[in-house]
Amino acid sequence: MDKFKITGGRPLSGRVIVSGAKNAALPALTAALLTQERVVLHNVPRVRDISTLRSLLEDLGVDSSVTHEAHGNRIEIEARQLLNPVAPYELVKQMRASILVLGPLVARFGQARVSLPGGCAIGVRPVNLHLKGLEKLGATINFDHGYVDAKASGLRGTEFYFDTVSVTGTENLMMAAALAEGVTVLENAAREPEVQDLADLLNKMGAQIDGAGTDKICIRGVSRLHGAEHTIIPDRIEAGTFLIAAAITGGELAVERCNPQHLAAVLAKLDEVGVQLVRKADNAANRTATLTAKAGNKLRSLNLTTQEYPGFPTDMQAQYMTLMTQAEGSSVITETIFENRFMHAQELARMGAEINVNGRRAVVRGKTLLSGAKIQASDLRASASLVLAGLAAEGETIIDRVYHIDRGYERIEEKLNQVGAKIARVSE
Ligand code: EPZ
Repeated sequence: MDKFKITGGRPLSGRVIVSGAKNAALPALTAALLTQERVVLHNVPRVRDISTLRSLLEDLGVDSSVTHEAHGNRIEIEARQLLNPVAPYELVKQMRASILVLGPLVARFGQARVSLPGGCAIGVRPVNLHLKGLEKLGATINFDHGYVDAKASGLRGTEFYFDTVSVTGTENLMMAAALAEGVTVLENAAREPEVQDLADLLNKMGAQIDGAGTDKICIRGVSRLHGAEHTIIPDRIEAGTFLIAAAITGGELAVERCNPQHLAAVLAKLDEVGVQLVRKADNAANRTATLTAKAGNKLRSLNLTTQEYPGFPTDMQAQYMTLMTQAEGSSVITETIFENRFMHAQELARMGAEINVNGRRAVVRGKTLLSGAKIQASDLRASASLVLAGLAAEGETIIDRVYHIDRGYERIEEKLNQVGAKIARVSE
């Protein structure tokens, strides 16, 4: 299992390039199941979750090819036929986003047998809303031996209200409704940029979707979808992680090929705590910009409550907590999306942070000097917060189980070493 060996205390400076968003690329790949024609995706990040999903598509009998491009990978998918509409437990347990094949398989092929994802480190993470929505669209849902069996002889448009805002729930139902007969309205839908990016791709494929990015999405079903070409949006969480890396090491980083509009809540919060942010060159061609972050002379402690988009994203909560260990004063961090997303706190405490966790609330007392230690990653975003702590700590930090990081960050140690970090990946 790979570990990171990080020598801390080195201010970062230079430029980092943001990869495509993993959480936009995953639904884009499953959207290709909705047509027998070729779908071409650009700026796909080179991360483990994408390889896992490609293996699942292969299991379904769907080939995909990968070509290395200047920015990310180009992936071509042609779901001409389906050999076997089963998403096995062995693959789904590696990546719960595999549930995103459910909607497209039922819509296009009328059947799917998908392993229930089960929980993960950050929470139970049920998929009841995905299933309830598919039933309202006319699918029959049964369960056996940990699998969901879904069948439908044609889906019909409906109205569906999400009791809880669900990103992949919204994506699954949007994809299924694209081929349903009639109009579907999703209420209390997720507004994340990744949902909007999926709607953009589906509309390029011939779908008729309005309202993506708002909490009410209207999908007029069509009889078939055609192939399309699409560039995945930048990863707003990776971009936010690099902005904090600059601030916490007392350095300055130009974060390129990002989309500041997707980071408004994060930028507002970083500005308030004293991070100096400048928006530089916009690239009209690929609709991205460069954001430069520079450490201020001191960081102020500020409370945080995570919220669904456009609020402060839960996927940035762990990284923010690490930053707050370096701010003067106490900050209260409230995690409203997942019930167990503070596992990084105990690892940070081993490095000297003072954090008191009580349910969905954590109180961080700063400023505390962090000293390097042996720590363990638990989930993707928590692992990123431990890397940030290692960069800021005095001495050497060893992070175990970095496969969590590889799931969602493309070559993070290479990108950080290029701007002055000292991170070695050791295999043991
Ligand atoms: C997506 O997960 C992201 N994953 C997560 O990123 C992200 O943390 C999360 O949205 C919240 O923004 C992908 O897009 C692949 P939800 P998702 O359904 O869709 C409850 C990462 O690090 N819920 O929006 O699974 C659920 O328990 C990952 O890349 C139900 O109760 O999250 C949670 O409390 C981590 N029933 C809340 O809704 C359901 O049917 C939000 O979950 C579905 C969800």
